[in-house]
Order: sequence, then C-alpha cells, then structure tokens
Amino acid sequence: MIAALEAVIAAAPFRHMLTPGGRRMSVAMTNCGRNGWVTDRSGYRYTGCDPMTQNPWPQMPAAVFNLAARAAGAGGFPGFTPDTCLINRYRPGAQLTLHQDKDECDFSAPIVSVSLGLSAVFLFGGLHRRDRPRRIRMHNGDVAVWGGTARLAYHGIAPLADGDHPLTGRCRINLTLRKAT
Ligand code: SIN
Ligand code: FE2
Repeated sequence: MIAALEAVIAAAPFRHMLTPGGRRMSVAMTNCGRNGWVTDRSGYRYTGCDPMTQNPWPQMPAAVFNLAARAAGAGGFPGFTPDTCLINRYRPGAQLTLHQDKDECDFSAPIVSVSLGLSAVFLFGGLHRRDRPRRIRMHNGDVAVWGGTARLAYHGIAPLADGDHPLTGRCRINLTLRKAT
C-alpha cells in the first residue's frame, strides 16, 4: 500500500489546506482518484484537478481500490466503487476535530478508512455533534467501514501521540475512500 502511494504523493504532494475560516489544518492532505477533496477560503468541495499543480489527481492505485471494495463488502456494503481517496498525514500533535463527511452526492455509499503507521484514537460519535464519541484505537492495517444509518456520524482523530513506526516513521497515514459523485 505504501509503495503504491509513493507515486501518488510524488505527483500530488502533501499540503496543509486552509479551512474556510482561514485556519491552516494540522493534518497534511492530498488525494487520488477521479475526484479529490479540498478546502480553502471558498469552502469544502471536490475537484477533478489538484489546485496546486492544475493536473488531474493521480489515478487511484488498484490495490487501494480493491482493498476498499473488499472491506466495504465485508462490512455489509457490497458493490462499493469509490471515486476518491483522501490521503491524510498526521504528525505528532496533528488532529481532526469532530465533523461529518457530507460533501458527497450520494450517502448510500459507505466510507472506508484505512490506517497506516502510528496508532491513533478514532473518535466515533453519533448523528449530533453533542453525542459523546466512542474512542477506538486504530493501529497499522486497521480498516473502518461506516455507512447506512451511521453514514453521517460525527467522527474525528484525537491529537496524535509521538512515536516511530517502522513503516512510516513519525507519522500516521490515513486513506479515506468515498464515492463523491
Ligand atoms: C477523516 O475523517 O477524513 C479521516 C479520519 C482518519 O484519519 O482516520
Ligand atoms: Fe471524515
């Protein structure tokens, strides 16, 4: 998986995007697939091209697509055909506050999330921001699938603890696969 991602990251490097409010995200991001998720001063959206290079996002490696499709099937969502893979890089201290993934057109498709490298605490809440999230430790190779009535569940990542992983060094890489269009 890491080897397949290296070519993607060479063509579409990690960058710290800005929130619509102008704050620099602590998580560095890039994408592969037909669509890529971006945020800047004008809001959250999917684009066909990388705004940094103006090139189409790199192709989604077959190994990534196949893993996500198989995981979704095992989780009860057969026929998942993700068209976007957001790649998140967390260095120690980086976090993702509770949010819903709702920039996609079709909420009948699930979300598949693959964790690589350093472990993290995944916060998995309910359909309201105030719902107290469960804390689930995600280790290298763990895959989470959520959809159906949980598709719009609030979720996030607690600040990453420092560490050194043989695969990724001092970081965690997360792949989030979705059907955007
Ligand atoms: C996300 O919600 O986009 C990423 C979650 C994660 O890093 O596990
Ligand atoms: Fe998310």
